[in-house]
Amino acid sequence: MNNDSANDALKPEELKPEDWAGEMGLKWLASLSLFEEMIAPIGDALLGRADYHDGETVIDLGCGGGATTLAISRNVAPSGKVMGVDISPDLVAAAQQRAEQSGATNIGFTCADASTVSLADAPYDRLFSRFGSMFFEDPVSAFSHLHSLLRKGGRIDLAVWGPPRDNLWMMEMMGVVRNHVEVPPAVPRAPGPFAFEDLEYLGEIMVGSGFSEVKVETYDGLQPVGGVGATPEKAVEFAFASLAVGRLLNDKGEATREAAGRELADVFARHHIPGKGVMMQGKAWLVSAIA
Ligand SMILES: C[S@@+](CC[C@H](N)C(=O)[O-])C[C@H]1O[C@@H](n2cnc3c(N)ncnc32)[C@H](O)[C@@H]1O
Repeated sequence: MNNDSANDALKPEELKPEDWAGEMGLKWLASLSLFEEMIAPIGDALLGRADYHDGETVIDLGCGGGATTLAISRNVAPSGKVMGVDISPDLVAAAQQRAEQSGATNIGFTCADASTVSLADAPYDRLFSRFGSMFFEDPVSAFSHLHSLLRKGGRIDLAVWGPPRDNLWMMEMMGVVRNHVEVPPAVPRAPGPFAFEDLEYLGEIMVGSGFSEVKVETYDGLQPVGGVGATPEKAVEFAFASLAVGRLLNDKGEATREAAGRELADVFARHHIPGKGVMMQGKAWLVSAIA
C-alpha cells in the first residue's frame, strides 16, 4: 500500500475535515436561514452573556452569513464597530450583501483563515463566535493568534457544542443512521462541531494560548431542527441536504436513504410542536475568557 492509499483507508469521506472554504460553506449558505433559526436561541444567549456596549470593537469569528455580526453591530452602535471574519468566500459575500441591505455602517468583513488573519484595526476589545471556533487544525496556535488580535484585558465569548451524548438532536439522528450504515467512531478532539465538548481540553487550549479567567455557562434548550415551523418531512430534507447524517447516507442507494428518511421523519414527528417546528434538545457551552 502506498502512502496515499493508506491515508484514504484511514480517512473515509465522513472523517475528512469539513471544507468550510468550499463545499461546507456552500451547504451552510444554501440553508442559511434554516441553520440560523436552529441556533438562534444559542446566539441570543451568547449575545446576552457578552453584553456589548456602545463604542466596543468586536471580531465575529467564523461569522458565516453574518446574522450575529449584524446583531453585534447594533449593540455597539453608534461608535463601536464589528469585523466578521470567515474562511468561506461565499458566506462572506452573502454577509456583506446583507449588511449593505441593512444600512449598517459600523460593520466590515474579511475573508480569511482566522488562525492567521491580520486585521488593520487590531487590537480589538472583544471577540465573539457562535460555533465558528471548533475547526482549527492546531487550536493552540490559532487561539494564540486570536489572543494577539485583542487588547490586553479584552474578552472572548464562544458558543461551542457540548458532548454529542447530551445533544438529543444529534444522538437521535445518528441513531437512525446507525440502523442503516456503519458510522465510523468519532475521533475525540478532532476539528469539527464537537471538538471542544471536553471542557478540560478547551480550558487547556485557552490557558495555553494566553487567556485567563476561563468561565463556562451551560446552555440547555430546545432548538427548531430544520428551521422555525418545519414539519418532520421538511426537517428530514434539511438534515439530508445539510447535516452529517446526509453525508453519511450519500452513495448508500435510494432504498437506504428512503428507509432512513421515513425512520427519521417518525423520530422528528415525536418532537414536532405545531407552529414551532421540530423542537429538539441541544446543549452548548458558553465560554468566556480574558486576554
Ligand atoms: C457552524 S458555522 C457558524 C456560522 C456563524 N457563526 C453562525 O452562527 O451563523 C461555522 C463557520 O465558521 C467558519 N470557519 C471555519 N473554519 C474557519 C477558519 N479557520 N477561519 C475562519 N472561519 C472559519 C465557517 O466558514 C462557517 O461560516
